[in-house]
Amino acid sequence: MSILSLQSLSLDYADARGGTARRVLDGINLHIASDEFVVVIGRSGSGKTSLLNLAAGFTQPSEGRVLVDGRDIDGPGADRAVVFQDDALYPWLNAADNIAFPLKLRGLPKAERLQRAEELLVKVGLEGAGRKNICELSGGMRQRVGIARALASDPRFLLLDEPLGALDALTRARMQLFLLDVWSRSGTGALLITHSIDEALLLATRIIVLAPAPGRVIADIPAEFGQALLGGRSAKDVKALAGFKSLHDELTALIHADDEEIAA
Ligand SMILES: Nc1ncnc2c1ncn2[C@@H]1O[C@H](COP(=O)(O)OP(=O)(O)OP(=O)(O)O)[C@@H](O)[C@H]1O
Ligand SMILES: [Mg+2]
Repeated sequence: MSILSLQSLSLDYADARGGTARRVLDGINLHIASDEFVVVIGRSGSGKTSLLNLAAGFTQPSEGRVLVDGRDIDGPGADRAVVFQDDALYPWLNAADNIAFPLKLRGLPKAERLQRAEELLVKVGLEGAGRKNICELSGGMRQRVGIARALASDPRFLLLDEPLGALDALTRARMQLFLLDVWSRSGTGALLITHSIDEALLLATRIIVLAPAPGRVIADIPAEFGQALLGGRSAKDVKALAGFKSLHDELTALIHADDEEIAA
């Protein structure tokens, strides 16, 4: 079991006009175990992507620490793989070569890389699609390739920034189940960012709510609807549960608490 820890994290962005720095995240404490599916939700601009970038090691905090298993991280690492909203695949490589790319960087021999890519294609339900060009794949298939590529280096944590945001509703619903399934079988911790309360409730073992200006954690709520989905219940049935509806209302109230104030 691994732990990804964000300890007393704060982040300031310099003002472009040379004024005082603006605090974007303030006093974030978050510990994610590698058997958890943690979903971060919050309004646009509340600092979700900034938080994920810190966890990935793409940016450094202004205060506080990011640790994996008690050791400070000093940048991106193979223990934390990132999946973005845009699939960010290499269009000049086919699906299998995209998946195998991180293994190439690690110097694995070609035959081994391609065998691992084939295994991962099976895992993400794209058996036989390895030779397809990226432009021949649908949006959902591309995201599967992106997730397979992220899994290629056997990360301890998958960091996902709205990976399903650009998909149509039906594909998104399928991909939610797929993500849940991959997570449950891979033993990789997940930190997923989303705007969708339904998505958070369906996937998370814990939901973190960020409030904006500056971004801070205002709720840390356990959830277990994903287990019902994994057990074979339909998303429609799960969404009809009384517990789902009440938590949905609670999250809506938390996320939109000061909307009227802002609109006024
Ligand atoms: N590189 C940057 N320089 C300066 N300010 C930034 C930078 N990146 C983000 N910000 C600001 O930090 C705040 C948080 O941005 P962030 O992208 O983390 O929000 P978010 O919650 O991911 O929003 P969204 O839901 O729209 O993706 C915003 O006010 C944004 O304008
Ligand atoms: Mg964002």
